[in-house]
Amino acid sequence: MVTINDNYLKLKAGYLFPEIGRRVNAFAAANPDAPIIRLGIGDVTEPLPEACRTAMIKAVEDMGDRATFKGYGPEQGYSWLREAIATHDFQSRGCDISADEIFVSDGSKCDCGNILDIFGNNNTIAVTDPVYPVYVDTNVMAGHTGDANERGEYDGLVYLPISAENDFTAEIPSQKVDLIYLCFPNNPTGATATKEHLTDWVNYARAHGSIILFDAAYEAFITDPSLPHSIYEIEGARECAIEFRSFSKNAGFTGTRCALTVVPKSLKGKAADGSDVELWGLWNRRQSTKFNGVSYIVQRGAEAVYSPEGKAQTRALIDFYMENARIIREQLTNAGIQVHGGVNAPYVWVKTPHGLSSWDFFDKLLHTCNVVGTPGSGFGAAGEGYFRISAFNSRENVNKAMRRIVEKFKS
Ligand code: MLT
Repeated sequence: MVTINDNYLKLKAGYLFPEIGRRVNAFAAANPDAPIIRLGIGDVTEPLPEACRTAMIKAVEDMGDRATFKGYGPEQGYSWLREAIATHDFQSRGCDISADEIFVSDGSKCDCGNILDIFGNNNTIAVTDPVYPVYVDTNVMAGHTGDANERGEYDGLVYLPISAENDFTAEIPSQKVDLIYLCFPNNPTGATATKEHLTDWVNYARAHGSIILFDAAYEAFITDPSLPHSIYEIEGARECAIEFRSFSKNAGFTGTRCALTVVPKSLKGKAADGSDVELWGLWNRRQSTKFNGVSYIVQRGAEAVYSPEGKAQTRALIDFYMENARIIREQLTNAGIQVHGGVNAPYVWVKTPHGLSSWDFFDKLLHTCNVVGTPGSGFGAAGEGYFRISAFNSRENVNKAMRRIVEKFKS
């Protein structure tokens, strides 16, 4: 019989969101008439912007004509999309990022896991606690950790606690770590990082030869003009950071699939023989070997995000979800529940009322209000006693869910 990758056996229970789905499905099966509202997984609900749909319809027509038909595209993405991304997302904010440093992909979650292919197995890896579980689980799968302890923390990972006391931004570690995952605006806490905070991280990374894996999937939700959208707004970040971005949340592409990863050509790592190696070349090789690119149709849809109409329509989508976040914050606060986030991010990080554990609050909310959220403890031990509510839903559902919660929990 074949042997398996035993690292998978170290993984705690299921991946968080399927586990929530399992519990919700069990509840729905037992209560088929319950009017369940899902504010758990951060999945968008509003239709794709018209500019994107129009571009994709046109692209489908291109595929129906021998003169404009496309077979395999470049594994890195079409140059017209990479140019648009470099210009609008980076150069317009003063970031020195060129189109050939951008790799178009089918998702940030995939890229966050896949990027581990180009790093060695002996790096010290730091994550915040709580954290987006993909960063942890992909390292477990890759054999970069030992077993989990009873708190669910994996041996070999460095956990940087984030809490209300430090504004949900991690202290710079005193020890040397090689790979650091940072996510701003933060999933799950909705916290943001100032330029000063990111500068401290960039300085730390440069001093230690570390690489920051910067997840900016929610950058479009930043409303405070003083906050950085990209790590490359920080001087020196080209020497120490890889950035992940996505069209999922700003343009509603969770089902359409398009994202991008930025690997500056100035990034280096050490080979076993002590020589310095460009990370760009390794990632380019990895993508060319294991990936065949995103479909032409979808890339045309993503390109349309940068047209004047696309910009206005995605702005309207983001504003819509951020108004939901405002309503969630306001209503929960009225009910005497303590909330964080939800101002520059589509997630509201809620202190569970009455001292309930995260999963107890999850069950109570599901059973008494028929509202689904995400237990904070699913994001790490330090998330215990918290709960994440997503602003991705229709206005009607958000209002209904808030009415039910306020009625049940108003102290
Ligand atoms: C979440 O709910 O945290 C997100 O949907 C996860 C993701 O985008 O993969």
